[in-house]
Amino acid sequence: MLDGYGREIDYLRVSVTDRCNLRCRYCMPATGVKQKSHEEILRLEEIVSLLEVAVGLGFKRVRFTGGEPLVRKNFSYLVARTASLPGIEDLALTTNGTLLAEQAAELRRAGLKRVNISLDTLDGEKFARLTRGGNLERVKEGVAAALRYKLEPVKLNVVITRGFNEDEIEAFAALTRQEPVHVRFIELMPLGQATELNGFLPATEVLARLEQSVPLEPAAVPGNGPARYYRLAGGKGTIGFIAAISQCFCARCNRLRLTADGKLRPCLESEHEVDVRGPLRAGATREELAALFRAAVAAKPARHRLGRRTPRQDARAMWQIGG
Ligand code: 5AD
Ligand code: SF4
Repeated sequence: MLDGYGREIDYLRVSVTDRCNLRCRYCMPATGVKQKSHEEILRLEEIVSLLEVAVGLGFKRVRFTGGEPLVRKNFSYLVARTASLPGIEDLALTTNGTLLAEQAAELRRAGLKRVNISLDTLDGEKFARLTRGGNLERVKEGVAAALRYKLEPVKLNVVITRGFNEDEIEAFAALTRQEPVHVRFIELMPLGQATELNGFLPATEVLARLEQSVPLEPAAVPGNGPARYYRLAGGKGTIGFIAAISQCFCARCNRLRLTADGKLRPCLESEHEVDVRGPLRAGATREELAALFRAAVAAKPARHRLGRRTPRQDARAMWQIGG
């Protein structure tokens, strides 16, 4: 489907839960969050119905996000149902990795193709501090399981923040020498608790620092996103940069989001949402639901305004929108 700016929108990011077993400081407030009731969250069958509508409109690529998707009961059932829809060419998952070691084999069997794992530090103590209690070893086991079960390309999402993990840029890059992992350095976006942090470090600076210590060659990695990739000479994996703020890639945007509570979200940043849960539960026909998808695609803005405004404190964060 083409949007109002001639962009082909064929990638649906589906948040399957607003719950998470971590509490990353830039994402969730210390005071805890008010989660949606079960009634407000789409049932798995409802997600499948909406995916059928999306596939009928030409969506070919699906990513499950959260919250943390692996805390959702019977998540692999949703993966299996989605994998069996005709026309799905890519089926991916974004996860914090803590529950991946025990679920990777089953997810692979269900038809999941690949995973992106969030991992912002390689230091166990820092990881526990950032995530307010998370266990780095579990994530490492998750990464190993993703490689073992060929959920590839395995991408590691690393949000770089000044004063927290900027000293680990080289260590993350070094991971790509021996392992076929794709490290992606991501700019901190003013969403969630990040609106109160001042750790923003532009991707260009991360790249410049890295280039000072090691030579990098351009590389290509399959995926649907905006990362630019490089490789260490002889490295098995790659190093990518996602400059969401400093070099906005909105002109190549290809995605629509479905939140866990059943709203289509035209843009990560804009608060505009189109409710599909209400109509679905009221018995809307497939054609009526398709019209809502078309409206959401038509409502996509030319670009986000994340870098240009005072962040809104009430804006929904990643755990609510899906990364
Ligand atoms: N800025 C950048 N990335 C974020 N994520 C969560 N909140 C932010 C933010 N404010 C990342 C997570 C994860 C992905 C889903 O989104 O670290 O890798
Ligand atoms: Fe951390 Fe992601 Fe959970 Fe937010 S949703 S607390 S970024 S693991």
